[in-house]
Amino acid sequence: MLAFKSEEQSQLQLVEREEIEDEDDLFEAIDKLISHGINAGDVKKLQDAGIYTCNGLMMHTKKSLTGIKGLSEAKVDKICEAAEKIVNYGYITGSDALLRRKAVVRVTTGSLALDELLGGGIETSAITEAFGEFRSGKTQLAHTLCVSTQLPTSMKGGNGKVAYIDTEGTFRPDRIVPIAERFGMDAGAVLDNIIYARAYTYEHQYNLLLGLAAKMSEEPFRLLIVDSVIALFRVDFTGRGELAERQQKLAQMLSRLTKIAEEFNVAVYMTNQVIADPGGGVFISDPKKPAGGHVLAHAATIRLMFRKGKGEQRVCKVFDAPNLPEAEAVFQITPGGIADAKD
Ligand code: GTP
Ligand code: MG
Repeated sequence: MLAFKSEEQSQLQLVEREEIEDEDDLFEAIDKLISHGINAGDVKKLQDAGIYTCNGLMMHTKKSLTGIKGLSEAKVDKICEAAEKIVNYGYITGSDALLRRKAVVRVTTGSLALDELLGGGIETSAITEAFGEFRSGKTQLAHTLCVSTQLPTSMKGGNGKVAYIDTEGTFRPDRIVPIAERFGMDAGAVLDNIIYARAYTYEHQYNLLLGLAAKMSEEPFRLLIVDSVIALFRVDFTGRGELAERQQKLAQMLSRLTKIAEEFNVAVYMTNQVIADPGGGVFISDPKKPAGGHVLAHAATIRLMFRKGKGEQRVCKVFDAPNLPEAEAVFQITPGGIADAKD
């Protein structure tokens, strides 16, 4: 990834690269089906539908696969049979499950206090959601993670690339420069390792996610940012009668995010808005309530609530996580990104 400045650091990085090569067997490329009797044309059809790995294939129902143009039921059966010979879709032992968990890495947030709160950092193969009032640091953390994800694992990084989906137009590449410098990395190389897309509709946002499988099956990505996950849904579905449809589409997109996280061992960091009180209604008067309802609540592995503290300080509270205590950490926004608070 050549993001380091000094020779010593690039040596370190080369060693780490080998670790990533070892991780290649985390997933099996979809073209392996060809050596199991599936013709290249049908493999291409799967790729065109956004399926680039046999593991990813497993995450689709037969019904959705037969929905792909040119794939009959008989063909889908043959494809699934072949894929089952390549990937174990069934039970594994607890020891194997432990081995898989070892591939999970935790990426530093830039603040030791925040890392500690999160049990080491932002976790791969999981979805971390951050919600909170405006200017509480959600997007600043996204920018910091863009850089720290590229650090070697020995420096609490993920040694991987970053995909950034921006629905609010708040990504600032110039912010990446001082953050990269703070971590001793070459800003140009760091920026080259970030792929960025601005989404304008919820459909666009979903299609951008579909397109990611192709990229992630070819290069080692460790982080996907969606900032924010909900904004376009709130714009594109405005009527009261559209709420059910909105939640259904949102669920579809969140399911896609979960699959990407697990298929490619990627950390998904998504931000969420808090519900503003539109008409003073008693049920939605709590300004700290995250948007997205139950659908979003169930999709996120870890939910974090951000709020402003004094000056540049911000507070992060664990709102909901399976194995973290409901504690708080204070951090600070600095020119070099998220850092520990100075008293
Ligand atoms: P919304 O997207 O509006 O909901 O807010 P957010 O939670 O994403 O806020 P964001 O992460 O954008 O935080 C904005 C805060 O970061 C503001 O208070 C800025 O003053 C601060 N900030 C941005 N850049 C810098 C910087 O270079 N140095 C310092 N010290 N603070 C910065
Ligand atoms: Mg923001």
